[in-house]
Amino acid sequence: MRFTLATTLRGLKTDALVLGWFERQKLASHPAWAGLSLTAKQAIQKQLKRPGVSLEWGSQTVVQLPKGPWANIVVVGLGQQADWTARRNRLVTRRVMRTALTAHWAKIVFSFQDLSSEGTARAVENAVLATYEYRAYRQTPTSGWPEVKQVVLVAKHLTAEHQAAVKRGLTIATLVNHARDLANTPGGKMTPRTLAAAAVTLAKGRKLQVRVLTTVQLEKLKMGALLGVGKGSAESPRLIVMEYHGAPKTDKPIVFVGKGITFDSGGYNLKPSNSMAEMHMDMSGGAAVMSAMAALADLRLPLNAVAIIPAAENMVSGSGFRPGDILTSMSGVHIEVGNTDAEGRLVLADGLAYAEKFYHPAIVVDVATLTGAAVVALGQEAAALFTKDDALRRAGQEIGEVSGDYVWPMPFWEEYDGLVKATFGDVTNSGKSRWGGAIEGAVFLSKFVKRSPWIHLDIAPTMSSVEGQALAPGATGSGTRWLIECARRLATGQLPTTR
Ligand code: BES
Ligand code: MN
Ligand code: ZN
Repeated sequence: MRFTLATTLRGLKTDALVLGWFERQKLASHPAWAGLSLTAKQAIQKQLKRPGVSLEWGSQTVVQLPKGPWANIVVVGLGQQADWTARRNRLVTRRVMRTALTAHWAKIVFSFQDLSSEGTARAVENAVLATYEYRAYRQTPTSGWPEVKQVVLVAKHLTAEHQAAVKRGLTIATLVNHARDLANTPGGKMTPRTLAAAAVTLAKGRKLQVRVLTTVQLEKLKMGALLGVGKGSAESPRLIVMEYHGAPKTDKPIVFVGKGITFDSGGYNLKPSNSMAEMHMDMSGGAAVMSAMAALADLRLPLNAVAIIPAAENMVSGSGFRPGDILTSMSGVHIEVGNTDAEGRLVLADGLAYAEKFYHPAIVVDVATLTGAAVVALGQEAAALFTKDDALRRAGQEIGEVSGDYVWPMPFWEEYDGLVKATFGDVTNSGKSRWGGAIEGAVFLSKFVKRSPWIHLDIAPTMSSVEGQALAPGATGSGTRWLIECARRLATGQLPTTR
């Protein structure tokens, strides 16, 4: 998809012209109005008089024109001007792009009432996210896949910053889509080994270094938790480490840790069939941190960053770990296995400990499809955010709003510590209480982050798209945009922690 900027509609030919109005706004006050033909104006006015057609938020009316430079005009209802938000803006862009895909429009022109550079990045980003489809295992139809080849953004006042914003939006969305590709790949094709290979491929041509640790090295490091989870699989576990150096060596890095469970059967605590269905996406956190690293390199952000992805497949076999086993993690903490299906926190235990053993993080952010309980708590529109630092919690929420990767804070008080109390080990990965499962996961992880500012994102709620988000079915790439914005803030001194 190609994006171009223009200051006037004049001379543009397109399959569709997109115009948005607020409720009760005068049609003529839109800067594009004067440039429309009389037929076009009358057609729009006529449509808007029809019963059921309005400028209510969320409405989309396609006005077909017999001739002229645009075959269709999409009239987008923006609702009350006072209610207009970046959130609505993202959705509108995506919905129009989905309409364009279904209608087989190859070229589309958005004419804005006014357009900031952030607005430009947002439009580009969401256009790219909306038109993504996972087609790796589908034969191309004889007529080809529908594809929006060109998007033109028209606004009166454009600067070099708008041009840069196009590039930024494109970079970010392309990498979010890359995370979606990785997560959508079936479990049989996406193993710890292929996930590691994907990291190596991603680093090619970028200022990124990759190191992949295999069984022998993991044994030397005494990563008993990661090895324990991986034991039941014919595909051995990996620890994937990526580094980005964009600042002097003395600058403390931001360290991302991403859950890389390439398939989660639950292990001996086997998942019921319905719950197992999407578990090839259980490496979504790993995919997000990998993509975010590539974005930092492409955006040339002036900071250091590390991504750590403990990758394993959680399977059932004669060699699998068992409920009741006690795993000795790299940090020395003995973990009693209350439930083999609470495997994410196990591999993260070693990943987080690795972060603190080998780096001095400015901040650690882990991203994981950790608990079904987080989905119960929040539904599917926000990931759960945990941190004990009030300032970071506020910053984290703001990062969600600004990036479009929405998060919501959860309580994380020491009163919850009892949730991971073990009988024989130092901690249990799944305690006796049925309640507060997402918090229990976070409390468990906290036992492995001893000295760094830390944020835990449970992205299980936002792992897959839902109706109404105007995204293709499957993975959303959740976490990627959040991590990029978080790193950008650290690089520019806007995160309440220091490098
Ligand atoms: N990968 C799952 C969590 C999950 C559920 C992600 C739904 C995405 C959608 C995780 O490994 C898991 O199985 N968690 C258990 C923890 C429990 C056994 C303590 C859960 O949520 O039931
Ligand atoms: Mn599990
Ligand atoms: Zn899992």
